[in-house]
Amino acid sequence: MTDTPDPRRALRDAFGTFMTGVTVVTTMDAQGRPLGFTANSFASVSLDPPLLLVQIARTSANYPAFAAASGFAVNILSEGQKSVSSTFARPVPDRFAGIDWQKGPHGSPILPDVSAWFDCATHRIVDAGDHAILIGRVEAFNATSAPGLGYYRGTYFTPVATQATLPTGPDIIVSAILERQGQVLLVDDGFGGLTLPTARVGRDGTSAALASLIAQSGLDAAPGPLYSVFEDVARGQQHIAFRCPATGGQPAKGAFVDLSPASFTDVTDQALRTMLDRLADESRMGNYGIYFGNQNAGRVTPVSQE
Ligand SMILES: Cc1cc2nc3c(=O)[nH]c(=O)nc-3n(C[C@H](O)[C@H](O)[C@H](O)COP(=O)(O)O)c2cc1C
Repeated sequence: MTDTPDPRRALRDAFGTFMTGVTVVTTMDAQGRPLGFTANSFASVSLDPPLLLVQIARTSANYPAFAAASGFAVNILSEGQKSVSSTFARPVPDRFAGIDWQKGPHGSPILPDVSAWFDCATHRIVDAGDHAILIGRVEAFNATSAPGLGYYRGTYFTPVATQATLPTGPDIIVSAILERQGQVLLVDDGFGGLTLPTARVGRDGTSAALASLIAQSGLDAAPGPLYSVFEDVARGQQHIAFRCPATGGQPAKGAFVDLSPASFTDVTDQALRTMLDRLADESRMGNYGIYFGNQNAGRVTPVSQE
């Protein structure tokens, strides 16, 4: 006798093969109490106007409050926040107990130490089967350089944990975009071309690898915002690049070049060249985004205006 496959279960399992980030979506109820739930159904929808979406189960105890609220916030969890994700997915009496949250500029709860947050006005709520799609208009946001928490096939992963516990997982490569007065530091790639200062992330994690790149650069610089995350599937590598404003010092290796496509002709890695071309464009306009994708395709999410 063969089992009849349950199509809903099969669909859920198939959806589970996507790699996603993890968020906690929050709002205030009519009595002024904070509410929130863990969600990985977050997606960006539109840049102009800036819209995002997240899906909420209609069976959620939180659904009526979210449906009635004038806004909600999406908190993108950082790699150390697995327990926050679990708390906001479990039926605990007060999910906010012991959490030093604050109201965002538009009034929804913002959690501490998150990778990024978006405080939204509710733009529209769309019925969608057993879920409702909450579409929010981003009223305020912040993004930090803290790497995000990932979710894949029912388990959490972080760049550091992946590196430490899964020897067959991708190598994590971090690059420092050291910028100064419209210029960026490029170094010899060892094959006659140019590249960014780059290091493989070890057990101490991404932040430590970035800090050591900055220390070795000879520059006075600080880790800044995340700029690009892409997978090089062929080489089994995950690349993460951070913008790092430099204020002084002399480069120990390499040289500053103008942030302009003409300066990048000796950059042999095509994906890196594409990223630098985007950086040149965006720095001219003072309007930066974060790239998520692989070498061929991805999307840029705007993060800040300078
Ligand atoms: C990683 C992860 C992602 C989740 N994503 C969603 C989601 O996108 N939408 C949703 O309604 N529930 C999602 N859930 C489940 C809710 O967090 C959980 O069912 C909910 O918090 C139950 O409590 P409630 O009835 O108080 O809302 C997710 C849970 C986890 C662990």
